Amino acid sequence: MSSNRIGIDALAFSGPDAYLALADLARARGVDPDKYTIGLGQHSMAIASPCEDPVTMAVQAGQSALKKFGIDPDEIGTLIVGTETGIDHSKPVAVYVHELLGLSQNCRTFETKHACYGAMAGLTSSMDWIASGRARGRKALVIASDIASYGLNTPGEPTQGAGAVAMVVSADPRLLAFDARRIGDYTRQVMDFWRPLYSKYAFADGHYSIECYLDALAGAHQDAFAEADGPDSDTELVACLYHIPFVRMAFKAHQRYLEIIQGGPIDRDHPSQLQALKEDYQRRVLPWLSLNAEIGNIYTGSLFLSLIDLLRQQSSDLAGQSISLFSYGSGCGATYCLARIQPTACDWVDAMDPSAALDQRRKLSMDEYEQLIEDCSSADQQPHLDPSDYGHRSGLFYVGTQDHQRQYRQQEKA
Ligand code: HMG
Repeated sequence: MSSNRIGIDALAFSGPDAYLALADLARARGVDPDKYTIGLGQHSMAIASPCEDPVTMAVQAGQSALKKFGIDPDEIGTLIVGTETGIDHSKPVAVYVHELLGLSQNCRTFETKHACYGAMAGLTSSMDWIASGRARGRKALVIASDIASYGLNTPGEPTQGAGAVAMVVSADPRLLAFDARRIGDYTRQVMDFWRPLYSKYAFADGHYSIECYLDALAGAHQDAFAEADGPDSDTELVACLYHIPFVRMAFKAHQRYLEIIQGGPIDRDHPSQLQALKEDYQRRVLPWLSLNAEIGNIYTGSLFLSLIDLLRQQSSDLAGQSISLFSYGSGCGATYCLARIQPTACDWVDAMDPSAALDQRRKLSMDEYEQLIEDCSSADQQPHLDPSDYGHRSGLFYVGTQDHQRQYRQQEKA
């Protein structure tokens, strides 16, 4: 089997039913709304209720990927859930997901945690599993599922979000095939963002985290091209996808990327250099950030949300062309890699596109938002939660804890 054909065969997103407009948040915090909508590039952020957690979102994304792409759960031989929204110090989110998706008992199942890098770690591990021959023709299901919470009135507050992206990985992918010789890795112990065991909310050294992200991009890119005479270059990429904690981060990342391949700094005070940077960003990066701008930081799934956005818009015109993907997880770990859009990707646009579900979302007032944040802080210990109290009608919900065991319920439309 050629390891250069392995890649993503199915993709689906699922997220919370409600969102907060960032202009409303800005007004409530006494901040110019342009800071959030232009400075950070975000329009709104998905807000989870106490009944939506990493399990419910992962299961719904996983079900959607399997069903819409016609994949039998028995075809899945590895399930990996990448998450930093732990619900248990010991038991993985993945094992709940395994049961709720009805996967085989012979399916290897585990959770990966490395901040926003967990799903990329799962993706490359599952590709290695297939390339080794151990998969025996089976596929892997890799799901990224997270709720980004920084707490009220913090600098990180406008960069929250929640959601899950499910990816089926196979030896004969319909959507995206990776170039195994152009996958570069980078690791460095840094305190840019972390969440101690005693805290519900993440701590971030925000501006330092941006520097760490950009250094990791340079380090992972260098590793991807360590083999000078390997296949493919990255001069003909039609799209450059980045981890998106907030949309504007992609502009900073793309500037650093262009500086790396041009071998020198870009002077943003120089009009023609700034113009060239903006044009390249508008052509190869910005068009695929519309879902991220509406959903916010979904941590480990953010990069793959941008991939869904690209494929739902351009898979027909860009068939056979190369793209880059950069995953960054604070702490920190990163991967830069190249992949090729498959000619069959354009047949699956409707299956991937989450816009119908996003159109159904409920807009929160500031009071509702602050109440949800408060309710979520005690949800893990509640014996009984009623999804209808949070406006939910149908879906899978977390309904409280009995005898210290989390309970889930599938609720059908009344
Ligand atoms: P801040 O300090 O409040 O914002 O926090 P700022 O002062 O840096 O302003 C942000 C931008 O808005 C700036 O643009 C301002 O100029 C602009 P820049 O200079 O950077 O291009 N601005 C305006 N624009 C238009 N009109 C205005 C206006 N005012 C200002 N009126 C910060 C920003 C991102 C630091 C904060 O939100 C934060 O701490 N976020 C959380 C950490 C984060 O997202 N880090 C990103 C890199 S690390 C990463 O990606 C990993 C992560 O996903 C976690 C994981 O791995 O699990 C976070």
